[in-house]
Amino acid sequence: MIQIAIDGPAGAGKSTVAKALAKALKINYLDTGAMYRALAYAVINKGISISDREKVESALDDICMSISYVDGTQYVFVDGIDTAPYIRTPEISMAASSIGTIPMARIKLVELQRETASKFDIIMDGRDIGTYVIPDAKLKFYITASSRERAIRRSRDLERAGMTVDIDEVEKDIIRRDEQDMNREFAPLRCADDAIYLDTTEMSAEEVLEFAIKKVKEVYGNEIL
Ligand code: DC
Repeated sequence: MIQIAIDGPAGAGKSTVAKALAKALKINYLDTGAMYRALAYAVINKGISISDREKVESALDDICMSISYVDGTQYVFVDGIDTAPYIRTPEISMAASSIGTIPMARIKLVELQRETASKFDIIMDGRDIGTYVIPDAKLKFYITASSRERAIRRSRDLERAGMTVDIDEVEKDIIRRDEQDMNREFAPLRCADDAIYLDTTEMSAEEVLEFAIKKVKEVYGNEIL
């Protein structure tokens, strides 16, 4: 089975390389950030504040999340609704990071992530993939970039989605989110000891992909691609 883990802070370009690698390898890509976003969205929709841990915990059992793939694209459904149109706002980004500090919420999502990894060859990206979700993955990357460069990339994505952005605000949000993701008690963001650390500040998306493909071939053999 192919299992590739990609971790790193917000806006580092993990999903760009993960999607491209999954396409090249013809395997599924699991964006675990979308799952935390969808869960945060569902909780907020129930009128519950993410900071009210007890209420969040008691709502978890009533939230039914499922993942499906159509033509290689991942869909995260919550209670039968496709969450994609609602989960890419700055508010949901922060709420996803906050819900990720609640161990019961993580356990619910990690179960689904491990189940998906047991069914298909997979590339997963997130914050705790190589350290906690699939620690036996044969290939792990930790992808990062300076906070300014990440803010520039994230701003471009938001603008493409029709939002007006202030780069300084985007950078501040990214730094706040990283701090929360790195300092939570349960499965915090960190580089696994056996991960390949890649600072992409000075690299183009094509160069990152080229590097990742080289590593995939080293681990799984040239014939895989
Ligand atoms: O990858 P992303 O920016 O879509 O993730 C949104 C937030 O979700 C991130 O700031 C922290 C949380 N998250 C997490 O705690 N663990 C993961 N494996 C993925 C995301």
